Amino acid sequence: SQVDTANFHWSAPSNIALVKYWGKKENQIPANPSISFTLENCKTITKLSATKKEGYENFSFDLLFEGKPKEDFKPKIQKFLERIVLYCPFLKEYHLSIDTENTFPHSSGIASSASGMAALAMNIMSLEKTINPSISDDYFYSKASFLARLGSGSACRSIKGKVVVWGENKENSKNSNLFGVEFSNIHSNFKNYQDTILLVDKGEKQVSSTVGHELMHNHPFAEKRFEQAHENLSKIKTILKEGLISEFIKIVESEALTLHAMMMTSMPYFILMKPNTLEIINRIWKYRTETQTPVCFTLDAGANVHVLYPEKDKEKVLDFIKNELVGYCQNEQYICDQIGDGAKSY
Ligand code: PMV
Repeated sequence: SQVDTANFHWSAPSNIALVKYWGKKENQIPANPSISFTLENCKTITKLSATKKEGYENFSFDLLFEGKPKEDFKPKIQKFLERIVLYCPFLKEYHLSIDTENTFPHSSGIASSASGMAALAMNIMSLEKTINPSISDDYFYSKASFLARLGSGSACRSIKGKVVVWGENKENSKNSNLFGVEFSNIHSNFKNYQDTILLVDKGEKQVSSTVGHELMHNHPFAEKRFEQAHENLSKIKTILKEGLISEFIKIVESEALTLHAMMMTSMPYFILMKPNTLEIINRIWKYRTETQTPVCFTLDAGANVHVLYPEKDKEKVLDFIKNELVGYCQNEQYICDQIGDGAKSY
């Protein structure tokens, strides 16, 4: 290739699944389809500087995290680059300087792997486009999602907004196990939908998602669960299209509890919720019943709670959160986020 040095700069957001991905096959192929809201404020911002090397046979890289060398992140990036070099052989000719930071506190219990892998994948696709300017936008974004998936499965849903489906499912032949596809048919009731993330426990995860997915092999309820995810995906697509918020709440909360139920019924078994997670859930249910405000929760593979609600209810829900829920958060910490548009270049 002709390019000697080139610099790129992308951000990519985190995402929160509504129908959860839990269980995978070889090569990061999901055992069931999933769908998520792309977030707006929780993101990784990554600069890539690529310099052509002479006389080398493989890629090399250095890594800055928040401006400082970060040795403990290097094996993950190394493994990611090793996986994708098959699809991006041009990488072998380059030294990559990666400079990355998150907008949310590290080890806040918010996974940075989705946003981090997505931001790096976008930068690598920019390098590919610099070398080969004729690639189409569609190829660019689909392949970025494909590469991100190889870093962390759910990262493939962080390239585009505002709602992304990952995984083959009956009704829609556009959807793929290999990359995320935007779902654009969304009712205005979900416009700027809010996600306030309550940081209940900022500690290291008890169970890595790699181990978690693994535990779905030989899980007694796996087949039923995968079937249910297909059904819930098909239902939630109609719900999003028609703006049915009360139906949305039922599926989203049930999915969160099912994800945790899978962990509680695997061997070995885990409880990733904390007492404060349950306190918050009960407070949300009580508030919803008493005020008829359509607020609900979801969880990822940890103790933090994502509180989801329409933009029109923002003021009163934030009052409720400040008055009744922040006391259950570690150091009273929470993050205000909402549905967003996906990766951005600078
Ligand atoms: O992308 P991974 O392998 O870290 O898996 C993430 C799984 C969940 O966050 C629990 C669910 C999901 O669909 O994002």
